[in-house]
Amino acid sequence: MTLTPSPTTAAPPTARLRTLVDGIRAAVDRGLPPEATAWLVADVLRPHLAARDLVTPAQCEGDPDRYRQHVLHAEPDGMFSLVALVWLPGQETPIHDHVSWCVTGVHRGEEHERRYRLVPGGTGGAGARLEAAGDLVSPAGTVTAFAPPGDIHKVRNGSAGTAVSLHVYGADITRLGSSVRRVYRLPADR
Ligand SMILES: [Fe+2]
Repeated sequence: MTLTPSPTTAAPPTARLRTLVDGIRAAVDRGLPPEATAWLVADVLRPHLAARDLVTPAQCEGDPDRYRQHVLHAEPDGMFSLVALVWLPGQETPIHDHVSWCVTGVHRGEEHERRYRLVPGGTGGAGARLEAAGDLVSPAGTVTAFAPPGDIHKVRNGSAGTAVSLHVYGADITRLGSSVRRVYRLPADR
């Protein structure tokens, strides 16, 4: 199973991408709480998702070994960042949660998500496990938004073709290295 995306690549934006970034900045600058901000950003992202000029062919290139991350924008003040994730068939994330609010939008293909609930164990956490809390299939055009806590999930490309999705995070993940707060290795529902 792939544990981390392949190394990031910085990529020059398309004109549409610059428009999208301006819209995200306006939504974030309203200063609303994390989940409300995420849904505002989702509304900004949704109408751009189907556009052919949203990302360049180079920004849709995958990696045969693991899902690939292309950094599209990192806001200088660190308030948000935008990446394209490219998944070849069968590639997936580990079970993880996030450092900040997150918005995802499927540009091409289909993503399969499993959400989990952490079931605490006894003394010292013995017996803790992850219980499946829901499955979501997201075809192109689908937007989701969430904010920690309660954001444990894994994502995989369950389709036969390449999947490309845009992800907006409420942090500069180029400084942090990743949007992942924690990878969970507890027993989990498959
Ligand atoms: Fe995630």
